[in-house]
Amino acid sequence: MKKKHFEDKGIPLFQIQNNYPTSKAIQLHPDLIPYLKTINPPRINKESREALLLYNYYIAQDLYDLNITFEKNNAIIPTPLLRYNFLQQVITKNSTILEIGTGASAIIALLAASQFNAQVYATEIDEEYIILAKENIAQNKLSEKISVINSKGKIIDGIFQSDFSVDFIISNPPYYDKILSPKFLWGGKSHELISEGKSGEKFIIQLIKEGWKYLNVPGILSFIIPKTRHDTLVAIEQFLNENEFEYDIIGLLAGNRTRYVFKIYKKYMKDELISSEMI
Ligand SMILES: C[S@@+](CC[C@H](N)C(=O)[O-])C[C@H]1O[C@@H](n2cnc3c(N)ncnc32)[C@H](O)[C@@H]1O
Repeated sequence: MKKKHFEDKGIPLFQIQNNYPTSKAIQLHPDLIPYLKTINPPRINKESREALLLYNYYIAQDLYDLNITFEKNNAIIPTPLLRYNFLQQVITKNSTILEIGTGASAIIALLAASQFNAQVYATEIDEEYIILAKENIAQNKLSEKISVINSKGKIIDGIFQSDFSVDFIISNPPYYDKILSPKFLWGGKSHELISEGKSGEKFIIQLIKEGWKYLNVPGILSFIIPKTRHDTLVAIEQFLNENEFEYDIIGLLAGNRTRYVFKIYKKYMKDELISSEMI
């Protein structure tokens, strides 16, 4: 029987541990106080881009000892807690990682290198973001652990040599077929969030097809998609079932928002799950 998680509703959910409540944040950083929406209980005004940038800056600093300069105008604002929990569910310490689409903050790469001692290869398509990502890596003294590579619009094939391989391939990929994200959160560059396909699944399916060849055994290919992208989730699961991949899905719950983490396992050396005509 093929799995149909999004119809069965049988996905395990993990609440993201928030050990950095707003009350603690404002005590440590009174400059956050003007950005509160309510004082009692203290809540950050999540409709203010400036507020979110400052709050997430302090989370990265206080929880993970990272000094991240976020891109102020365009890029989506990355929440460090969600990305850390994603990594915690997927990667193991001292591994090699390929991250697709690291963004201007390089947050996933920085967390993987600093918290999990990973050796990271991080790709990005946007030249402006690549410059900022490299600055973030240098200012955290992690240049020896993270390389940033310009993907030039490719995903993996044509970027890396055929003998390149890693333990984990991970991504917070572009997943929308059209932009639905509020403007204050996301400022403008379509390649950040838009993927083609009937429901925005094309990028992710191509990532699975290409990534498979570059995974060590054992290895895991993993990505994260919001629950609101129901059609994308169903299309990806259908692809995985049709091609007999072995995988798990878990949900990460942050506030009232759920994101699903797909973990696809490469367990055998001679893995010919993907037929040549599909590639
Ligand atoms: C949803 S954002 C994730 C950014 C960051 N990793 C994070 O978690 O906040 C997706 C990123 O993928 C990048 N991207 C889109 N197409 C790409 C490609 N073909 N190769 C590499 N990066 C790409 C976008 O520019 C964007 O920075």
